[in-house]
Amino acid sequence: MASVPSLAASVNQRVADALSAALPEAGAADPLLRRSDRADFQANGMLALAKKLKGNPRELATQVVERITAPELIKDIEVSGPGFLNITVTDTALVQTLAARAADDRLGVPYAENPGTTVIDYAQPNVAKEMHVGHLRSAVIGDALRHLLDFTGEKTIGRHHIGDWGTQFGMLIQYLIENPGELAPAEDVDGEQAMSNLNRVYKASRAVFDADEEFKERARKRVVALQSGDKETLDLWQRFVDESKVYFYSVFEKLDMEIRDDEIVGESAYNDMMAETARLLEESGVAVRSEGALVVFFDDIKGKDDQPVPLIVQKADGGFGYAASDLSAIRNRVFDLQATTLLYVVDVRQSLHFKMVFETARRAGWLGDEVTAHNMGYGTVLGADGKPFKTRAGETVRLEDLLDEAAQRAAEVVREKAQDLTEEEIQERGAQVGIGAVKYADLSTSANRDYKFDLDQMVSLNGDTSVYIQYAHARIKSILRKAGDAQPVAHAELPLAPAERALGLHIDQFAETVADAAAEYAPHKLTAYLYQLASLYTTFYDQCPVLKADTPAQVENRLFLCDITARTLHKGMSLLGIRTPERL
Ligand code: ARG
Repeated sequence: MASVPSLAASVNQRVADALSAALPEAGAADPLLRRSDRADFQANGMLALAKKLKGNPRELATQVVERITAPELIKDIEVSGPGFLNITVTDTALVQTLAARAADDRLGVPYAENPGTTVIDYAQPNVAKEMHVGHLRSAVIGDALRHLLDFTGEKTIGRHHIGDWGTQFGMLIQYLIENPGELAPAEDVDGEQAMSNLNRVYKASRAVFDADEEFKERARKRVVALQSGDKETLDLWQRFVDESKVYFYSVFEKLDMEIRDDEIVGESAYNDMMAETARLLEESGVAVRSEGALVVFFDDIKGKDDQPVPLIVQKADGGFGYAASDLSAIRNRVFDLQATTLLYVVDVRQSLHFKMVFETARRAGWLGDEVTAHNMGYGTVLGADGKPFKTRAGETVRLEDLLDEAAQRAAEVVREKAQDLTEEEIQERGAQVGIGAVKYADLSTSANRDYKFDLDQMVSLNGDTSVYIQYAHARIKSILRKAGDAQPVAHAELPLAPAERALGLHIDQFAETVADAAAEYAPHKLTAYLYQLASLYTTFYDQCPVLKADTPAQVENRLFLCDITARTLHKGMSLLGIRTPERL
């Protein structure tokens, strides 16, 4: 089904038609229609166009106005300033457009014109290590982008490139061999126990490793055994992975995020490809031997003393590292998964790594023109002091503690406002509100910027928070419940109050906002939109009685505005991975 055009799109089309009639040599020029404070819309495309064709913008604008006859759509159109058009639409057209929108499950959001396959690399913690606040952003942003892309018809494949390989496993496995029973079987533990077991084993093995030269040597040999695929060693390695997954899943569940097991494809999954990756790069001359290592050089990447910084594909001792696994993963994602876009949601501090990896893959011919590779490098989560977020003792903050605290604070907020909720409901809503608050704060800052983790601000009822939006949504739901027999029905014949028009015109922009947020990987555009929607609803609610409106038709029409607002808020928030409870 073709999606319902927005009112803005219809008006834009009318003006474009008049423009090309007035100025055929301009071809299909875009009038550049925008929402405006002075009227409903402003079109300023005439300015640049007249300048380009050496005409007078005001004259051109006047000719456009003369050619527009659409009384059912446009109530008022006038030339202003150096050649803008100020346009006011009719109330009827606005309500009719919203009614058509309301009849569509997708609320008018179009499918992307050329959907492809995006492999999105996000939520990638490391085995046997605690998840910290840095892992939060990748998970939250990645999950939101995935919802957005899916909704526009893109096929998405998730890849959780967990850190499950490397020399530290020699130490861990050797310790476990010498201290069997230190790690309970994964099926016997919950997330918290799993992590505390892993932490204990990690610390204990580290201590022996640092103190005992002979153990160090045994650990080194164990790395070799692991790399050569020794069965006993691999089985023990698998136990660390399984135990860690129990823990990961418990955190993802807290984050209210669905992670699929078949998409947890960590560094180790590419082991079998590594040697071939290196061989192909060496044979094609993309990588060269330097001091025994196999490396790739770049003209524009230099370090201290202007020395080139290479990407290391294979170390001098023959070992493969992070770069080799990412290069192999690209081959897999492009050739086996048939990706047209590779999206990485990874800390901006790894952007140089990805720059080198992408460039290497391009030179090798693994990334052609038809494949886009992009690292959505995100900024750092800061504490209240503006420095990277740490506990008072200077340790990194455990993600779980943070989420628990958010849920607790939110439960207090919910309890304070709760009228008819049971304690169990308060706790459940507290979790939804608290996790929503954390996600929203993360998503509402554009990803490349740092932001301060400030729980007081995040769960505030006033301001640009998810709580504010969730309350607006719940308030609408409560009105709809109280409406009794009155139904939401659009009445295009009724004149609209200013607050109704402002709300309606904003709802009209939902489809475009979602499409832009998805195409630009910019969830913050959607958060800003939703916050404004909730604010406009609040104004409407203050100024326009709903159930006590003047006439039954007006009650129905206002209920209709309430209903479509609630659906838009709900849909928008769900695309961000945030719940909107029916009652708060
Ligand atoms: N596990 C890594 C870390 O914690 C992130 C992995 C990012 N993805 C990738 N394909 N390199 O830093």
